[in-house]
Amino acid sequence: MRAFFGLIWLLTGAVSAQELPPPITDEDYLPVSRAEAELGQLLFYDPILSGNLNIACATCHHPDHGTADGIALAIGEGGIGLGPDRHVNPAQMPEKRIPRNAPALFNLGAREFNVLFHDGRLEQLADRVRTPLGADMAQGFASILSAQTMFPVLNRDEMAGSHRENEIGRAVRQGLITGPDGAWDLIARRVATFPAYAAMFSNVYPDRGAIEFTDISDAIAAFMAFEWRSDTAPFDAMLREERALQGDAARGLALFYGRAGCSGCHAGPFLTDHRFHAMGAAQIGPGKAETFESHYRDEGRFRVTGRAEDRFAFRTPSLRNVVLTAPYGHAGAEPDLARFVADHADPVAGLARFEADRVALPAFEAAQDFVVMHNPAETAAIAAAVVRTPIALDGEEVRQITAFLASLTDPVAKRGRLGIPDAVPSGLPVAGVEGQVKGISQ
Ligand code: HEC
Ligand code: HEC
Repeated sequence: MRAFFGLIWLLTGAVSAQELPPPITDEDYLPVSRAEAELGQLLFYDPILSGNLNIACATCHHPDHGTADGIALAIGEGGIGLGPDRHVNPAQMPEKRIPRNAPALFNLGAREFNVLFHDGRLEQLADRVRTPLGADMAQGFASILSAQTMFPVLNRDEMAGSHRENEIGRAVRQGLITGPDGAWDLIARRVATFPAYAAMFSNVYPDRGAIEFTDISDAIAAFMAFEWRSDTAPFDAMLREERALQGDAARGLALFYGRAGCSGCHAGPFLTDHRFHAMGAAQIGPGKAETFESHYRDEGRFRVTGRAEDRFAFRTPSLRNVVLTAPYGHAGAEPDLARFVADHADPVAGLARFEADRVALPAFEAAQDFVVMHNPAETAAIAAAVVRTPIALDGEEVRQITAFLASLTDPVAKRGRLGIPDAVPSGLPVAGVEGQVKGISQ
C-alpha cells in the first residue's frame, strides 16, 4: 500500500512518504475519561467561573469560530456578543483589549503539547509545570492543560473583572490567589453551591474531598482534550494511506514539504515544532508591558527567557483546522489566510505591507491599536529579529499552499464531540445558544 502511494507521489512530482510525518494514533494522546469530559463541558460553557458571571471559556473559544473568537484581539470583561459580533459594552467599558489573539484549542490533549500560550510561559518540565506564578501556583492539577485553565479566571480583563465589581476581582487585585480567601477557592465554592455540580463532582472524583479549583480545571482540560481531538482530516486520510490529496492540495503539499520549507517549523503530525521563531508578524493592540513600563511592544518569548535571540519570537502554532481559525498571527493582525502565508514566506517584506484597515477588531475608541505599527523604529526592531531567509512564492503557489492547508480541516473536530450544552447548572446564559447570548449584557 505504502509503495503504491509512494509511486503516485513520485508520478505527480509530489512528496515522498519519508518526508511526511507518521499518522496520528491513540498513543499520541493522554487517556481521557468521558464522564470527566462531560463535567468539563458544562464548566467550559458556564459563565459561573467569571467574576461578573458574564464570560465563559467559550466566549473566546467557541466552536462556531474554530474554538477561537474570529477577531484579532479578544474582548473579555466589558464585551457583549460572540465572535465577530462581539463589541464593547458602553455601560461597562473594558479597561483594555486582551493583548494577543485567542488561539484554537485543537489536539491540546496530545502528549507532545508541552508548552502553552503564544510565548510558552507555561511549560511542562521533567518534574513539574513551570508557570508565571512560580511558588504561588496551586499543586495537584492533572496536566499542563489543567494548569493553563487556572489562569484565565485570574485575569482581570479576561474573566475576573475589577476589584470594584466582584469578590474574585478583589481577591486577584489583593494578590490572594491560593488559600481559603484566594480567587481559586472563591470560584470553587461558588460552583459547589449548585447541587447538580456537587453531584457530578462527587461522581467523577469519588476519592477527592470538597471541590477545589484543580478539580474544575482537570475536568475542563479533559473536556478540551476529548472535544477537539483532531485527527480525521483529509490530511490524516492521506497519512494513513487511505486517500491521496488531489490537484492544488497535492501541489500545495509538495511545496509545504519541499521548496517553501514550511515543514521545517510546522513539523510532525500536528504541524508544529513547539518552538519559538521571530517571523515578523504584525504587532497590534496594547502589547505586553509590565505595570511599571509604558509601551505597546510584545517581545514574545523574550519576556519568558530574557535571551536576546528570543526577542519577538512566538511559538509555532499547530496548523490543524487553520482555515477555521482566522484571523492569524499572535496578534491576529491578518484576517486572510492566503495573504498571511504570502507575508509569512517573506516576513520583512510582509511586515512592510501591513495595512491597519484590514484588521478585524471591534471598535473601541480608547484603545491605541497601532502605536507599534506606526512607529518605524518599533517595526524595524521586529523586522531585525527575523532570521529566516525569504522564500519567493507566486500567487499560484500561495493558492496551492492554502488549498493544502484546507486539507487540515477535520469535520469531526469542527463540530466537537459533545457540542454546546443547551443549558448549564448555574442557569446562566450559554454563549451561542439561540436567544441566550444577547441576554449577556450585565
Ligand atoms: C477573554 C478571552 C478569553 C477567555 C474568556 C478565555 N481565553 Fe483562553 N486564551 C485567550 C487568549 C488571548 C489566549 C492566548 C494568550 C497568550 O498566549 O498570551 C488564550 C490561551 C488559551 C490556551 C492556550 C492554548 C495554546 O495553544 O497555547 C488554552 C488551553 C485556553 N486559552 C483555554 C481557556 C479556558 C479553559 C478558558 C476558561 C477557563 C479560557 N481559555 C478563557 C483568550 C481567552
Ligand atoms: C522558521 C519557522 C517557520 C517556518 C519556516 C514557517 N512558519 Fe508558519 N509560523 C511560524 C511561527 C513562529 C508562527 C507564529 C508567528 C506569530 O504569530 O508571531 C507561524 C504562523 C503561521 C500561520 C498562522 C497560524 C495561526 O493560527 O495564526 C500559518 C498559516 C503558517 N504559519 C503557515 C506557514 C506556511 C504555509 C509556511 C511555509 C510557507 C510556514 N508557515 C513556514 C513558524 C514558521
